[in-house]
Amino acid sequence: MCGIVGYCGHRSAVEVVVSGLRRLEYRGYDSAGVAVGAHGRIVEAKKAGKISNLDAELAAHPLPAATAGVGHTRWATHGPPNDLNAHPHVSENGRVALVHNGIVENWATLRDELAAEGVVPVSDTDTEIAAQLLGRAVADGADLTTAMRQVAPRLEGAFTLVAVDAAHPDTVVAARRNSPLVVGVGDGENFVASDVAAFIEHTRDAIELGQDQVVTITADAVTVTDFDGNDAPTTPYHVDWDLAAAEKGGFDWFMRKEIHEQPEAIANTLLGRHDAAGRLVLDELRISEAELRLVDKIVIIACGTSFYAGMVAKYAIEHWTRTPCEVELASEFRYRDPIVSPRTLVVAISQSGETADTLMAIRYAREQGSKVLSICNTNGSTIPRESDAVIYTHAGPEIGVASTKGFTTQLVACYLLGLYLAQVRRTKYDDEIAAVVAELETMPDLVQRVLDDQDAVMRLADELVDAHSVLFLGRHVGYPVALEGALKLKELAYIHAEGFAAGELKHGPIALIEQGLPVFVVVPPRGRDQLHGKVVSNIHEIRARGARTIVLAEEDDEVAAGHASILLSLPKVSTLLQPLLAAVPLQLFACELATRQGNDVDQPRNLAKSVTVE
Ligand code: M6R
Repeated sequence: MCGIVGYCGHRSAVEVVVSGLRRLEYRGYDSAGVAVGAHGRIVEAKKAGKISNLDAELAAHPLPAATAGVGHTRWATHGPPNDLNAHPHVSENGRVALVHNGIVENWATLRDELAAEGVVPVSDTDTEIAAQLLGRAVADGADLTTAMRQVAPRLEGAFTLVAVDAAHPDTVVAARRNSPLVVGVGDGENFVASDVAAFIEHTRDAIELGQDQVVTITADAVTVTDFDGNDAPTTPYHVDWDLAAAEKGGFDWFMRKEIHEQPEAIANTLLGRHDAAGRLVLDELRISEAELRLVDKIVIIACGTSFYAGMVAKYAIEHWTRTPCEVELASEFRYRDPIVSPRTLVVAISQSGETADTLMAIRYAREQGSKVLSICNTNGSTIPRESDAVIYTHAGPEIGVASTKGFTTQLVACYLLGLYLAQVRRTKYDDEIAAVVAELETMPDLVQRVLDDQDAVMRLADELVDAHSVLFLGRHVGYPVALEGALKLKELAYIHAEGFAAGELKHGPIALIEQGLPVFVVVPPRGRDQLHGKVVSNIHEIRARGARTIVLAEEDDEVAAGHASILLSLPKVSTLLQPLLAAVPLQLFACELATRQGNDVDQPRNLAKSVTVE
């Protein structure tokens, strides 16, 4: 939610900041703005809408030359997305420009306090209140770093703040609490940003910041302290992906590129996970085997697509480890007084590693004494840092707001975790585990086969471009796949789409079926004979009522094919691993349909890639 950039160096600050914002636009695209200090005052440009609007504004009214500045791309929380509410916000005395990611929860109290002193805010935002406080602190003689240390502890909620003071325009100061911020360390230039993507074209050397820290950057120095001014520990790291990975690479959408990257992403996530004898080794896991043997319950917490990955994981983990496994929406978890203990293993799944709901649930679980293992795609992000252990998915940066390779690599990490637990707890024989790992290793090729066979999906998107409602059905691990298919369609095509457990149909949802209604059905492989037969019966039931059945079934499944208005064929694979294949045509379909509708596939309306507010 919201992308922020600060820069000090030897280049044009406006150019560096705006190009950084462009790479962070996936975080929010309601408005964008940039500010620099020049001749003792703040000069800014900001516009509602995408960064292209800001580009036009800057072309018409260029900002003065400066080598330090701050910028922002917004996902609106307080106040509608218009020019006035766009960041940066400037203090009444014109000294300080501030950009902000997060929510200042006590902004109304602070606004009343400022009003009593005669300060009247000009925007509807919580951010402006913080800008006014900083402006008053520097006017009282504090330097910007000291002002930030004074103001940040007064703010409640989650925030990253980045500011520049017109009186010292070569210095940028930032503060962080519960919201992402990384430092980029360059040669004669330094950066702060929500995400390394903002500065990856200039440097791959980064510093992770901890909670409640203030960082001051100039062209030549980076200083990090806590809110009391004490030196704070930091963790430098090297970013292991480059600019090319964050570019579209010839595809029209990041999402399409990311869908096509899945074979490689899955292969990378599987890389180096077992020793020569075939035993699984999860190097990043920092929980001992003894501790894992004591676990008596697993609770998976996640949001959105990651939650659906967790639902698939439950089937696999319980089957392989015979350990009870619950899956819970992170946003619900801590509000219902969940029963967790030091013997509970909490597994948090998050692509971004910054989702506020998941982070808060992790903190709650750790307070109860549970160990938390995160499955995450973003190195150096908050969720793995606050977990006891991590399994990184190695999908590379996911920029499209709709998660695709994030999902399939989360599935792979969940399977690896389930198999590792089975190995440690001896609930499966080594050869049984090795057989599943061997099958997992065939998945990159099988996903590639699904990607190479897109004709039916393309025709379907052509046919259904005017659909108003689409249903998705599945059973067992096909159920979360159905939910994920529906979510992709809602996010991208803005049409009514719902996923159901196929067995639930007769308990109500079958009333929705009408002549010609498109219904996707994920048919399990025939290995689970009962399950397969039941889903085929469900297809009968909806066809009899006029549904247009779009059947995803393994190749040569003539029974399922016989009931399909349209057949999407999947390579043969065992039941538990089928989601890795079945999700792919649904991702492609949503991408294609939204493209035909003229929607912005990478930046769907109202959404943001990284949801850093609760
Ligand atoms: O970064 P996370 O995995 O924690 O994000 C969770 C959800 O916000 C995310 O999966 C969201 O549902 C996606 N837009 C789905 O495509």
